[in-house]
Amino acid sequence: MIKIIHALTAEEAGINAAEAVLEVIKEKRNPVLGLDTGSSPLGMYRELISRFKSGSVSFENVRTVNLDEYAGLAPDHPSSYRFFMDENLFNHIDIKKQNTHLPNGHTSNYKAECKRYDAVVASMGGIDLQVLGIGHNGHIGFNEPSSFFTSGTSYIKLTDSTRAANSRFFESEESVPTHAFSMGIGQIMSAQKILLIAIGKDKAEILERALFGPVTPEVPASILQFFKGDVLVSADEEALGEIIRKQSSRSAC
Ligand code: GLP
Repeated sequence: MIKIIHALTAEEAGINAAEAVLEVIKEKRNPVLGLDTGSSPLGMYRELISRFKSGSVSFENVRTVNLDEYAGLAPDHPSSYRFFMDENLFNHIDIKKQNTHLPNGHTSNYKAECKRYDAVVASMGGIDLQVLGIGHNGHIGFNEPSSFFTSGTSYIKLTDSTRAANSRFFESEESVPTHAFSMGIGQIMSAQKILLIAIGKDKAEILERALFGPVTPEVPASILQFFKGDVLVSADEEALGEIIRKQSSRSAC
């Protein structure tokens, strides 16, 4: 079931998202978190760090698997997702680094890396909570619009619009890698719970299409409508703009 947690601001949405993560950490002895990068989860990571610093949570028993990584970037490249996770979360909490996993972008053997990461994800014995953002074209992880839903880890060609959107994390658009590794839709859908974070008005239209439009691999996030458990959507007022507008125009008829 889709449960929207309505926040007025991005900061509040980050706090709400952090609460959902903390609940899983409290419930499980060895929680497995599926994590995400980009701007959307930043507020949540800030809140988790602050809860750790105030002594209200420990990440000692937490294991993590990230959704995706750019192909061609070494882990210490400042635009790699490994670097992002270290800088924005892992370096500030008591998680054991060996319990944090991302695809290795720095390889030319794509097939072997997809296989390796599938084995990593399988070895977790199930993801308790998968955190997602949403791309402007509806991608989740780096699963771009396509004619089919991916199953396991894939080596994916990024669309021009995704490369343009993510160029803010690079020196220039040309330096954004053309390909990436991403956990598949099948792996995302096998999590126990999903937490989708959407911030800002540029996500309003795609969020509405994903949650209430037709389910199609052309909008990969639309598959979440078929998720077996709860999909918590932590969003701010701006990202919810189109959903609110459509719902109020429906109730006006
Ligand atoms: C990137 C990542 C996704 C992320 C999405 C949204 O392409 N691969 O995992 O969810 O973009 O990013 P942002 O939150 O920066 O808009």
